[in-house]
Amino acid sequence: QGVSEMRLKVNGTVRVINAEPRVTLLDALREYLDLTGSKKGCDLGQCGACTVLVDGRRINSCLTLAVMNQGREITTIEGLAKGDDLHPMQAAFVKHDGFQCGYCTPGQILSGVACVNEGHATSDAQTREWMSGNLCRCGAYPNIVAAVREVQQ
Ligand code: FES
Repeated sequence: QGVSEMRLKVNGTVRVINAEPRVTLLDALREYLDLTGSKKGCDLGQCGACTVLVDGRRINSCLTLAVMNQGREITTIEGLAKGDDLHPMQAAFVKHDGFQCGYCTPGQILSGVACVNEGHATSDAQTREWMSGNLCRCGAYPNIVAAVREVQQ
């Protein structure tokens, strides 16, 4: 398949890449745009490490093609803070130690943002259910839930 030009709006800026249509959004972000905050854990839609927001909704970026996301607002972990000011969810993860090794953290934080924004964080049980697609091998789940709870309040 040939290479074609794609225009991706990432963190408020339109970026142009030349890539084959088979390239996933995750690979476009990491390999073409140098936005390596989104992590590749499984590349199969099972771990949530690659979670980004597309038009405000969370998505596993390993399961969607870059070409399909043209014209949409893509938000990665790099786009969440405003200058030196952390996004409230980032600050809450720091405060509550919502990580250990940190590999799953970008995906956890973006999933947490969507969890609150879409009204799924009204109880810890609901948060756990909503966040169940974001795996943490260090087992920081109680602290992650605490961080989401703080932002929800
Ligand atoms: Fe996408 Fe694991 S890398 S869900």
